[in-house]
Amino acid sequence: WPALAPTIHAINKLKKERNAVILAHNYMTPDIYHGVADVVGDSLQLAIEATRTSADVIVQCGVHFMAETSKILNPSKTVLIPDSRAGCSLAESITAEDVRGLRERNPGVPIITYVNTSAAVKAECDICCTSSNAVEVVESLGVDRVFLIPDKYLAANVARKTNVEVLIWDGACEVHERFTAQELRDYRKIDPDVKIIAHPECPPEVVEEADFAGSTKHMIDWVKEKKPAKVMMITECSMADNVASETPGVDYIRPCNLCPHMKRITLSKILDALIEMKEEVTVDPAVAGLARRAVERMINLKS
Ligand code: 13P
Ligand code: SF4
Repeated sequence: WPALAPTIHAINKLKKERNAVILAHNYMTPDIYHGVADVVGDSLQLAIEATRTSADVIVQCGVHFMAETSKILNPSKTVLIPDSRAGCSLAESITAEDVRGLRERNPGVPIITYVNTSAAVKAECDICCTSSNAVEVVESLGVDRVFLIPDKYLAANVARKTNVEVLIWDGACEVHERFTAQELRDYRKIDPDVKIIAHPECPPEVVEEADFAGSTKHMIDWVKEKKPAKVMMITECSMADNVASETPGVDYIRPCNLCPHMKRITLSKILDALIEMKEEVTVDPAVAGLARRAVERMINLKS
């Protein structure tokens, strides 16, 4: 991208001067993903990397809950997000008060929160999970019933893989809920050789039609391992763009949906963030302390 080279160069230079690390989600555009990110990954990888970095400043290229998670894990570091309006329909779908209500009405039932929630919601929950480890987290609790909030589709997809009863909250990802099973069947009719892989935030009937479902990292790993001749990634559009250059020989058929929140993060906003050291993400220390317990409990399961 010759026109972007000066911005990429300026960001990489400022990163060194500020001792900053750029953590970028797999849904970032290729200029960010390949041009300036130090670490790319799914929500779980980014949370783990946030605990490992020795940088003074974390620039979170993703949505707000991801930046909050980095801050929760690194209270003494400066965490910046290039556009603090980068939200998430799942994080918006539930409040801390809602979780307190669930507890009151369902005493003794552990509440697992998907990482796509605010710090205040995490602070009210027993343990966190991501799409990479949700089944493992559900089964780690050793109980018959759990809440898995707030994504009703992720919860339904997890429920199909475990004997634990999974209670839900009525939240959904505005990007993945738009895919339909009929659409997938139509694609297969047109092209019976195509492999279809989907994110578990899609409705269960969509996941059912897919050849594989997993977190963004697991989807990338699947393509790299299986090297299908043709693949369709039922998820956010930048995924195929980002992995295409790393998987020569794989043809990406591209129906996809854009996440408007992720797309708020741009190269020029990252540069501004590093120049002006904005926008700083803060979490009330008392809330952060409680939320950290839920996130660390998940991370410690993993290691
Ligand atoms: P992953 O953890 O699978 O990257 O998912 C995050 C997300 O927001 C997907 O919509
Ligand atoms: Fe949230 Fe969906 Fe966007 Fe992921 S893709 S950040 S779950 S709205």
